[in-house]
Formats: sequence, structure tokens, C-alpha cells
Amino acid sequence: MTQTTFPKVRKAIFPVGGLGTRFLPATKSMPKEMLPVVDKPLIHYAFEEAREAGIEQFIFVTGRNKHAIEDHFDHVHELQTHLSETRKRRELDRISEWLPAAGSISFTRQQEPRGLGHAVWCARHLIGNEPFAVILADDMVLGSQGCLSQMVAAHATSGGNMLGVMDIPREKTASYGIVDIDASSASDDAKLVKARGLVEKPAPENAPSTLSIIGRYILQPEIFSVLENQTPGAGGEIQLTDAIAKLIH
Ligand code: G1P
Repeated sequence: MTQTTFPKVRKAIFPVGGLGTRFLPATKSMPKEMLPVVDKPLIHYAFEEAREAGIEQFIFVTGRNKHAIEDHFDHVHELQTHLSETRKRRELDRISEWLPAAGSISFTRQQEPRGLGHAVWCARHLIGNEPFAVILADDMVLGSQGCLSQMVAAHATSGGNMLGVMDIPREKTASYGIVDIDASSASDDAKLVKARGLVEKPAPENAPSTLSIIGRYILQPEIFSVLENQTPGAGGEIQLTDAIAKLIH
């Protein structure tokens, strides 16, 4: 039996255009993705997770007041010259060693806050016709093997649209996308399971399970034509969850 192989996931979208209203006042003048955890901003952890997963093209969908994110991924000549002249090698490495190669990082703007589905759709021309990852930096996921790296490995043999999930208390379902799973389809190690349906932010009494989507996705390019015609869903926003749900069959 020959095993089907699926195209490599080379590109990742980082939707970072959100207004960060849940973190006010910290995010009044600073992007939420720049909030630090220990010594790195959230977006840096997301970038490292993507790079570990073999991502080669990093696509940021930004919005107004998000310049700090672009600056974080750029050289800062004045500081680098100073550190170099004062022989602060370690500090110099900490700001520049990890910078992605020129041309492997792109920024496009989501001109209106119309939801996650709309943000992903804004990157359609930068993705083209290949599978891609989506990482929401405000969901920080740590593991000895990164979450996206595990998903990319699974996608190499299973293909399809794939979501990272976690179990949450039922009273929290209205804050997340919730997955209806077909438990009988679980893989041998129970890490991979088929979804029958997805609902964005259901009330606890209507939630089909307590498995919530965390901000890690691998999606097929067909999603863009679905998003193109997607009408607003929960919260009046164009929901990525609704578009993925349409592709489940
Ligand atoms: C988004 C998604 C939701 C997902 C969540 C994870 O919601 O729409 O399905 O569960 O991210 O953080 P948001 O947090 O943007 O409201």
C-alpha cells in the first residue's frame, strides 16, 4: 500500500489586527501581541513555534497601531551598533540572532475589524494555493514539541483541515469555538479525531462538547472561497469557525 503524502505546510498567518479589548488598559497604546511573558512578547513565542514547525513564510495580518510588531521583527541599527561597539555579544544575539531572513516575513493590513475569518481572508494572495497554518499569538501553547510542529507532522499523513483543541469547563464555552467530535474516529493514540461539526461561542447548554478550539489551525486553500462569501456569525463578525464548519464534509 502506498501512503499518500500531502503538501508541506510552508506558510503561516498570524492575525494580529485585533483591538485587544479584553486586555485594556494594558493594550490601550500597545498591541496585545506585544505583551511580555518573562522576557519575550507573545508574538515572539508564536513565531518560534512556527519556525520549529518548519514554517518558511511568516504572514502578519496587522491593523492600525501595530507598528511595534513590525519593528520587533526588524533590525534596530542604533541599538545593534551600540551593543556591538560595547561588545555586548549576548545582548546583541538576543535582539538579532533569530531574525527571519529578508523576504520571509510579510505584513498586510486588515483595514476593518471584521473578525478572524476576514483577517485570514486578507492574506489569501500571500498564501496562494497551498495548505497553511494560522497561529493566534494570544493563545500561548508550550510543549517539548511545539503544538504546531505536532500538527504539521499529523497533517503530513492525514491532510485536511486541522484544529488544535483543549478541554475547558462547560461554563466557558461561550468564549470559544467548540468542536463536535466523532469519538469513534480517534487515532490509536487518541490525539487525532474527526470533527462532525463546529460552533462558534455556543452557550453552555447548546455546546456539543467541551473541546474548544485553541488558536492553532492548518487549513486548505479552499477556505478562501468560503470566506469570500461568509456572512457574519457570532458577535456580528466573519468567523473562521463557520467557514471551516462548511468544509467538514
Ligand atoms: C477565536 C476563535 C475561536 C477560538 C479562539 C481561541 O476567538 O474564533 O473559535 O476558540 O479564538 O482563542 P476570539 O478569541 O478571537 O474571540
